[in-house]
Amino acid sequence: MANKESIGNVLFVAIGVSLVCSVLVASAAIILKPQQLANELEFQQRIVLEVAGLYEPGADVGALYSSIEEISIELASGEQAPVFLVRSNGEIEQVILPVQGAGLWGTMYGYLAVESDGQTARGLQFYQHIETPGLGDGVDKPAWQAQWSGKRLFDDDGDPLIEVVKGPAPAGSDYQIDGLAGATLTGRGVSIFVRHWIGDEGYGPFLKSLSGKES
Ligand SMILES: Cc1cc2nc3c(=O)[nH]c(=O)nc-3n(C[C@H](O)[C@H](O)[C@H](O)COP(=O)(O)O)c2cc1C
Repeated sequence: MANKESIGNVLFVAIGVSLVCSVLVASAAIILKPQQLANELEFQQRIVLEVAGLYEPGADVGALYSSIEEISIELASGEQAPVFLVRSNGEIEQVILPVQGAGLWGTMYGYLAVESDGQTARGLQFYQHIETPGLGDGVDKPAWQAQWSGKRLFDDDGDPLIEVVKGPAPAGSDYQIDGLAGATLTGRGVSIFVRHWIGDEGYGPFLKSLSGKES
């Protein structure tokens, strides 16, 4: 009688089980891919709606998103970058710009909402970062985010001005945002990359075209 525990048999069963499992995993990945892409798209659309102040919990994200127009602009580097236009009665009411850059621990990804004048911030919201809970993740607190609304982006020469300071912003400042307690470095990172994205290498020329201040 053949030995069931022979090396040949053990290898045959092990290779057989591995093959079946890899086919199952590969099939699951292929079958689930369209759903994953749809979920990712809906997630991005929901964040853009949230930054724009248009998100309603429970509402159909796709239907709400139909009021937003996505265009592509060319950056100074020649790369294409998306911009989301939010219109009201046909007129641009605000624009949403993707921003990303280094926090203390890793890349932070978010959106900056800007008024139709191209000069005034309306909001900043992150959808992905790895800053420390209780420290750098203060960027997710509604009270901190609310400070961005109405702040000036540029100085009189058109250079990026808005910044997150260390400690509280001076009372009445029209361009400074409170630092995050114990997380000055995250705030500094946010200042640096937001200024980059609204500057000449980023969306600056587009924002100036909105305000009619393009050079
Ligand atoms: C475990 C640990 C996690 C930290 N996480 C952050 C962070 O997410 N963001 C940040 O700016 N600083 C973080 N810090 C603190 C920084 O090292 C630095 O001390 C701080 O940014 C200085 O800010 P302050 O001048 O407001 O104290 C962390 C420190 C430790 C020990």
